[in-house]
Amino acid sequence: MEYDPSMFQHGVKPSSQFDNPTDPLNYALARLNEERDVTLRLTPHIDTLNDVILRLIKDRSQSISSAVVELGTGTGATTASILQRSPDTQLVCVDFNTSRLERAAVRLASHLGQITFEVSDAVNYLRTIKDDSVACIVTASMLHNLPLQYRRIILSEVHRVLSPGGMFVDADKHGYRDPHIDEELFRQQIALIAQNFMDKPEYSRDWVAHFTEDYDKDEKREDYLGYLEDMGFEAQSVFGFGLDIVVSAQKIKTK
Ligand SMILES: C[S@@+](CC[C@H](N)C(=O)[O-])C[C@H]1O[C@@H](n2cnc3c(N)ncnc32)[C@H](O)[C@@H]1O
Repeated sequence: MEYDPSMFQHGVKPSSQFDNPTDPLNYALARLNEERDVTLRLTPHIDTLNDVILRLIKDRSQSISSAVVELGTGTGATTASILQRSPDTQLVCVDFNTSRLERAAVRLASHLGQITFEVSDAVNYLRTIKDDSVACIVTASMLHNLPLQYRRIILSEVHRVLSPGGMFVDADKHGYRDPHIDEELFRQQIALIAQNFMDKPEYSRDWVAHFTEDYDKDEKREDYLGYLEDMGFEAQSVFGFGLDIVVSAQKIKTK
C-alpha cells in the first residue's frame, strides 16, 4: 500500500522551544519540569512502569550489539529512564517533531554519546532499515494517538525489521473487552484527572478531552495482543495498572 505520512500528522507543531530568544536552555528545563509534574499527576505509577520497560530492554540489549530503536521519543522521559540505568545501551531516538527532540537533547545532555537522533516519521524511518536486522524496538505512549490503520502499518514495519527472536516493547493505554471493567477503569482515569488537577482546571479539561477521544478509538488489550499474535509475535502484557499496560512481543515467525 502506498504510504502518505501527511495523512496522519495533523496537529504537529513545527515550532521550537528554542524560539524563546532570551534563555532557551532554562526555558527548556522549566518545560521539562512542568512535564514531569503533569506526568506524575496523570500516571502516578510512571516510575514502576518505566522500571518494567527498562528491565525488558536490559535483558535484550545485554545480549546484542545493535542499537535499540525508540519510536516517538518525544522529550525523552522514557529514554532518560532507560539510559540513566543502562549505560551500555545505544538508542536510536525517532520522532517527527523537531522541537520535542531538541528538548529531549537538553534532558539527555549527559547521555548524548549513547544516542542517535532521527527526525523522521516512524514508518519512513523503519523503511530505511533492512529486514530482520534490529534486536529491540521500544515505544511509549505513542501508538494510542494514531489512527488504527497507521498503527498497523507501523507494526508491520516493526515486525519486518526485527530480527528473529527480536523484541518489541510497547507501553500504552488500552481498555478491556469486558465493558464493565472497561468503563470502570475509564471512570477511574477521569476521576484521577479531576482530583489531581484541581489547581489547574484548564489542564483538567484538556486531559479529559484527550482521554475521552482516545477511549472512543481504543483498541482493547485483548484485540491488540491477538493482532500481534496473528502477525507472528508471541505477545503478552507484562505490567498492568489501570488502563496502562506494557506489552512485550517477541518475533517468532518471519513472513
Ligand atoms: C505522547 S508522546 C510520548 C513521548 C515519550 N515516548 C514518552 O513516553 O514520554 C508521543 C510522541 O510520539 C511522536 N509521534 C507521534 N506520531 C509519530 C510518528 N508517526 N512518527 C514519529 N513520531 C511520532 C510525537 O511527536 C510525540 O513526541
